[in-house]
Amino acid sequence: MAHIEIISASVRKGRNSHRVALFFQKYLAQSGDITTAIQDLAALQFPLFDERLAFQPDPGRDVKQFATAIEKADAVIIVTPEYNGGYPASLKNVIDLLYPQWYHKPVGVVTVSDGDFGGSQVIVSLLFTLWKMKAWVIPAQFPVPNVEQLFTEAGEATDLVALEKRLRPYLKELQWAMAHPKA
Ligand SMILES: Cc1cc2nc3c(=O)[nH]c(=O)nc-3n(C[C@H](O)[C@H](O)[C@H](O)COP(=O)(O)O)c2cc1C
Repeated sequence: MAHIEIISASVRKGRNSHRVALFFQKYLAQSGDITTAIQDLAALQFPLFDERLAFQPDPGRDVKQFATAIEKADAVIIVTPEYNGGYPASLKNVIDLLYPQWYHKPVGVVTVSDGDFGGSQVIVSLLFTLWKMKAWVIPAQFPVPNVEQLFTEAGEATDLVALEKRLRPYLKELQWAMAHPKA
């Protein structure tokens, strides 16, 4: 049984991208051969980065659990909003915290926006950072435009048939990466 951790990156009050994280959790669980968990950065409320986990003398329990979750996961899906053409500070905060945990980790990026372009500008900066960390980012995009129209608050897709046309090839890439674990 493969396990995927889903990072829900928005910590904004009234956030919408969490809908997409909830959707992925439910959708993947239906497959029967994948387990998931959401790392909800709004709930975790990590302090502002002041040192990498490996160099922290007394890291908090939540931080250690987060690191273990990422390390053990077969893949990570990052659901991130686009803020002014980039990804939120909350996400950089946890990416920089770790290092060996990202090594060769299959990562799928899902960008979210309430506009027409699905947060696709995020990919440039986020991809570069993850590449620097030597994460194995899948070569497939999943931009979510007009998030409030496409997903309910509970994470149900309003048009699953249309969504699945994009979802299937995206998940195929993630599954390929998961099937090629690090040496
Ligand atoms: C500070 C800030 C900057 C934003 N910048 C962009 C942007 O550059 N492009 C875009 O499509 N949407 C932008 N948005 C709108 C988000 O796409 C919208 O809030 C969406 O619901 C995803 O973010 P959320 O999960 O925090 O709700 C911005 C929102 C905020 C709060």
